[in-house]
Amino acid sequence: MEKRGKFSGSLGFILAAAGSAVGLGNIWRFPYLAAKYGGGIFLLIYVILVVTFGYTIMISEISLGRKTGLSPIGAYQALSKKYSFIGWIAVFVAFIILSYYSVIGGWVVKYFYEFVAGHSMSVAHENFFGGFIGDPWSPLFWFVIFMALTYLVVVNGVEKGIEKVSKILMPILVVLSIAIAIYSATLPGAMEGIKYLFIPNFAQFSPMTLLAALGQMFYSMSLAMGIMITYGSYLQKKDDLNKCVKRIELFDTGIAILAALMIIPAIFSFSAGDSAVLNANLNKGPGLMFVTLPKVFDSMPFGGVVGGAFFLLVFFAALTSAISLMESVVSTLVDKWKLRRGPATAIVAGGAFILGIPSSLGNGIWSSFTILGMDFLTFFDFITNAVLMPIGALLTCLFVGYVIGVKTISDEVKISSQFKREAMYKIMIKYVAPICIVAILISSVLEAFGVLKF
Ligand code: PHE
Repeated sequence: MEKRGKFSGSLGFILAAAGSAVGLGNIWRFPYLAAKYGGGIFLLIYVILVVTFGYTIMISEISLGRKTGLSPIGAYQALSKKYSFIGWIAVFVAFIILSYYSVIGGWVVKYFYEFVAGHSMSVAHENFFGGFIGDPWSPLFWFVIFMALTYLVVVNGVEKGIEKVSKILMPILVVLSIAIAIYSATLPGAMEGIKYLFIPNFAQFSPMTLLAALGQMFYSMSLAMGIMITYGSYLQKKDDLNKCVKRIELFDTGIAILAALMIIPAIFSFSAGDSAVLNANLNKGPGLMFVTLPKVFDSMPFGGVVGGAFFLLVFFAALTSAISLMESVVSTLVDKWKLRRGPATAIVAGGAFILGIPSSLGNGIWSSFTILGMDFLTFFDFITNAVLMPIGALLTCLFVGYVIGVKTISDEVKISSQFKREAMYKIMIKYVAPICIVAILISSVLEAFGVLKF
């Protein structure tokens, strides 16, 4: 048995957990959802969900990990044998996310390459993105590159290199994002975009806003996937759990808001007051980051360099998240099937690659195949975020609330810190969260099947 590593202190843990949390979810996914679902109202609901639901589930997972010192399946099993299936669901979801996450990771690498090659002008063209993802082979090629890089890091063991690299790159990402956001704010007409993002318009609320915000919250905080259990298992008893969770929340939400600040004001500016164009741009969906930001870079001095630097940093943010996804599946195979790390990593990377092929080609040569009206990538994204992650989170709540009992978690938290939100936590985990999740799940599935229309 290898000795289980420990983080040297809570800073190492916070950075690793934040490295998993901060990724494409913040920079690519959050801005397009906020743009689509009404800006301010989406942001408001999102933040409320982070500090209530998100807090509850994150502190539960981290405590489960630290208490048992085991990764997900082992942790559930150690506390109650019958419930190891919750861990299996988490691993399964991580595997699906890894498959399409790497497709988008590949898009990011492609954009980085284009900027380095000095093609920033052509990338800024309206049709560049559509042409790229519609190409028969190009998206597949970049997808393979991203998956291979993730494979290389995971197969060599994650701890040393990547942690050091993220310690340097994450702060640079923050600084660069602030600079780009400030620049975006100076574009003509950008103020309307800032208002759209920060002033909630309650008329734009719909159950879909809530559902999208909930799915995004789980996704962005890397919850319901056992990742926080695994990281929690490396924490020391003296580390302050409450503080750790607060820092991760702040960091993760901060980067998401920054990303939205880079993109949304720019959409308003480029739409030049034409509301039809504006609406079309706000609804661009998954392509938004890849369409709007290159235009921002094109309009700024040294835009080619800034664009190259930006996509490099997004690539690292995506890589640290993809690593956490792959690592969680690999460590399960190593623990449960007694595979060696090398073959296990090859199986996971190969499997995720095969599963990712439809997502990669779904906007191009396979665009005529749709599931419930969605292309493959959108479908996998929907099924994981709107269905499977909520189910995972629901099971976690029920497990803590009714199987092992809230006291198990609060005792663990109180070993080293105050549990300031304990009263809320108890009510959340036993009643509010399960009921809300079930309600949201049912409405989302009905919506997808066209029974309900929001
Ligand atoms: N949280 C990551 C992001 O925001 C994605 C992710 C989801 C990573 C689930 C791990 C687990 O990009």
